Amino acid sequence: MKFEFDGEKYKQASSQQKVWGKKLIAELEFTGGERILDLGCGDGVLTAEMAKFVPDGFVLGIDASENMVKTARKDHAGANLRFQMLDIDAIDFESEFDLVLSNATLHWVMDHGKLLRNVFKALKNQGTARFQFASDGNCTNLIRILREIMSTKEYAPYFSEFDWPWYMPAADAYRALLDEVAFAEKRVWSGNADTHFASAETMIKWIDQPSLVPFLGYVAGKDRQRFRDAVVERMIKETHQADGTYFETFRRINVLARK
Ligand SMILES: C[S@@+](CC[C@H](N)C(=O)[O-])C[C@H]1O[C@@H](n2cnc3c(N)ncnc32)[C@H](O)[C@@H]1O
Repeated sequence: MKFEFDGEKYKQASSQQKVWGKKLIAELEFTGGERILDLGCGDGVLTAEMAKFVPDGFVLGIDASENMVKTARKDHAGANLRFQMLDIDAIDFESEFDLVLSNATLHWVMDHGKLLRNVFKALKNQGTARFQFASDGNCTNLIRILREIMSTKEYAPYFSEFDWPWYMPAADAYRALLDEVAFAEKRVWSGNADTHFASAETMIKWIDQPSLVPFLGYVAGKDRQRFRDAVVERMIKETHQADGTYFETFRRINVLARK
């Protein structure tokens, strides 16, 4: 599935994703000449961060959203850095990369059997795949509220043909999927990044970009803004904590695999 995001808004709304991604990169070791593929590079911040570690290598960031790629190209340039508009479902590389990394993206991809086969093919021998994305238990408040509002008499007709946009597997289920591909080493583990948003505004930015993007296109006219406001209003009410923060669960799945 492909959605069009707003790269500039995402930049303002993605401090959590950046913290997770920088941690992911910091845990890796680079020799300086690696060729790296970043799946779902978004605004390119993490792609550019990796490019610093491989002055003699090359980093390719791919994303299906034209606006994200536009923002990435505008903000980041380098001889060893390139951004390309490309759907992750359509990657077709052969033994080209030492590292395939993906941060906060792969829950937007439905067919992980195909993804893992394509990533395996894209890696050189002994190359590494490192993913972090949403797992089961992620965003329990937002998902409950969305499902409830979507099923009301008012909005259900809009969503009769809607395909749920996120795949958030449990670690065991993902391990089984990974076992079907011939990686020499593999590790899957869960992470807890539950978040207290400091203010309603910071939470709303994240709700608007990227979370609500797949849903809003289904709702027509004035109902669109009303649907968005209904979700935001309930999120504010139902996630508000005694200390003034707003709480949401952020559960992650981590994958490390070597060819
Ligand atoms: C939450 S952002 C993460 C961006 C970046 N990795 C980061 O951590 O800031 C998810 C990105 O995945 C991209 N994406 C989602 N599905 C995709 C697909 N099928 N092919 C390519 N990109 C996709 C979106 O366009 C979006 O830019």
